[in-house]
Amino acid sequence: MNAATSFLSRTTRTLALALVLLPGPALAASPEDALSDGDRACLDCHGSAEKAASKARDGRLAPVINVSVYARSLHADAGCDGCHDTIELPAHPGKLPAVKPVAAKAPAVGETCRSCHGKVVKAYERSFHAQRLLAGRKKAPDCNDCHTPHAVMSASVQEGPDNICLDCHDDPAETHEVWLPNAARHLQAVACVACHSPGSLPRVDLRLTAGSDLSANFEELAKAADANHDGLDAHEFRTLLQTFERQGTPAAVRGRIELRSGVAAHAMPDKTTALRDCFGCHDPDAPPYKSVTVSTLDAQGTPVRYDAQREILTSAVTVEALKGFYVLGGTRLAQLDYLLAAGLILGISVPGLHFLARRVLRRLAGKKE
Ligand code: HEC
Ligand code: HEC
Ligand code: HEC
Ligand code: HEC
Ligand code: HEC
Ligand code: HEC
Ligand code: HEC
Repeated sequence: MNAATSFLSRTTRTLALALVLLPGPALAASPEDALSDGDRACLDCHGSAEKAASKARDGRLAPVINVSVYARSLHADAGCDGCHDTIELPAHPGKLPAVKPVAAKAPAVGETCRSCHGKVVKAYERSFHAQRLLAGRKKAPDCNDCHTPHAVMSASVQEGPDNICLDCHDDPAETHEVWLPNAARHLQAVACVACHSPGSLPRVDLRLTAGSDLSANFEELAKAADANHDGLDAHEFRTLLQTFERQGTPAAVRGRIELRSGVAAHAMPDKTTALRDCFGCHDPDAPPYKSVTVSTLDAQGTPVRYDAQREILTSAVTVEALKGFYVLGGTRLAQLDYLLAAGLILGISVPGLHFLARRVLRRLAGKKE
């Protein structure tokens, strides 16, 4: 990835966010009206190109912030001084360092974010990416590469084609299919970090989506469907789906393996430790199935979750709704069971194959001598 594509991808992401976030004309009060006086003071110069031009100092222009996107981001409440606390007006713009060295890719990577996201910063510092930066290699992501600082949205928005990892790792399907059958499908059904942060607790999330926002009364409806308040079982889940259908918002279900904690997502070590054991997932007792949630996204892209029982993954009652998402040991798994059983048998015979290969190689080597 070079600087130009990085800039482009950041720009498209900001534009995409702007499109997603711009309110319809019907919305009366805009989030921009809710910004603090402190923020307004900054935006007096940084809020638009015209303002920047009219307040230029010694020919220096204030870089412009997309106010509309910022005001709708999760950080609008943090305020400019939440991250830029070294800037004092009216001394600024002077010679003070404006941002703590988060972007300087110095040992203090993530310093700007530490005061509020300390656990994430700690986890990140252990990661392969951070270690590269700390070792002085310039090409690896810091916080800002994965979360555009003035447009931070719920991290869950960054899935599928918006997956932030794809900015730099162009075609993971190609590198993964060497050992992972049907890699493209796996990459859709498993979050990158679910394999790349081994040791972190995974879960299965069933995401409900419809043409319109389901989040308004999601928890209420889920609670109502969950008759005995012990998490949705298969019948209760079907009841919930039927409720949405009756409301005229039939929901599609998409199953995915992800991490229970977004903090743990940052501790990615090098690739040698990543999960590649098929039975880490294709086994009814594998870790992901110990926690199952049903979720939908609210208007800001933050998931609203409700607990479910793992039987909803394998029950005949929900198999239709869960099209194509299955676990070893479930109802539609005959084929997959056979395939993995075959894999297991092959696995057992691998030492035998190695032994044969070594003999052949030795014989070849012997001929050369
Ligand atoms: C009077 C106009 C003005 C106001 C008010 C203002 N800035 Fe600036 N700011 C500038 C200019 C001009 C620059 C460019 C300075 C340069 O090129 O060295 C700048 C640069 C910056 C930079 C980038 C500096 C760098 O070195 O990367 C940041 C961050 C910044 N301002 C934040 C803020 C914050 C936060 C506030 C509110 C507390 C604020 N500014 C208020 C004019 C202003
Ligand atoms: C969540 C933390 C955070 C908040 C809140 C925040 N910023 Fe920033 N800002 C950053 C970081 C980090 C950078 C450095 C980005 C980089 O270099 O890639 C930055 C960079 C800047 C720059 C320099 C941009 C450039 O193109 O050189 C300006 C100007 C700025 N911020 C102004 C503001 C203003 C004004 C506000 C409030 C409306 C604000 N920031 C709120 C984190 C924040
Ligand atoms: C390589 C990309 C990447 C980098 C670098 C990165 N993040 Fe993240 N971040 C993610 C992803 C992906 C998620 C969502 C993880 C999930 O929910 O499974 C996330 C989630 C988060 C969350 C939400 C955590 C939660 O509790 O759900 C915060 C806060 C966050 N990141 C802050 C940061 C900070 C601060 C840094 C720098 C120290 C940083 N990120 C660096 C990709 C990144
Ligand atoms: C002044 C405190 C503050 C600072 C500093 C700060 N944040 Fe945040 N951040 C917040 C708050 C508050 C939220 C909203 C939390 C929520 O709703 O779960 C948030 C949310 C986030 C999220 C979305 C989390 C999610 O639930 O998906 C990310 C990503 C994030 N911040 C990244 C950063 C990065 C990167 C920096 C440093 C450049 C930073 N933050 C600095 C306060 C802060
Ligand atoms: C099913 C588990 C799994 C998933 C899902 C997964 N990976 Fe991997 N990944 C691995 C394993 C195991 C390796 C190590 C392969 C090896 O040893 O060559 C690896 C290797 C890599 C490498 C190094 C490849 C190279 O060039 O040698 C990168 C980069 C990577 N993964 C990124 C990603 C991204 C980005 C995603 C999400 C789009 C992802 N991975 C999803 C298990 C996974
Ligand atoms: C801003 C660019 C950028 C982003 C975004 C990014 N990476 Fe990377 N990543 C790199 C670079 C550069 C390397 C080092 C490549 C190398 O050594 O060949 C790397 C290496 C890796 C490796 C290989 C580590 C090894 O042992 O060789 C994995 C795995 C990986 N990244 C996973 C991810 C995942 C998962 C995400 C999303 C959460 C992600 N990356 C986001 C730039 C990025
Ligand atoms: C991190 C968890 C995980 C790991 C590790 C994993 N899988 Fe999967 N696999 C899944 C999930 C989830 C699906 C279901 C995808 C879907 O919804 O179609 C799946 C689907 C499959 C399918 C069916 C694909 C289709 O739809 O046609 C096969 C075959 C398969 N896996 C084989 C393997 C093999 C072989 C390995 C080991 C090399 C492996 N998997 C490792 C999670 C995993």
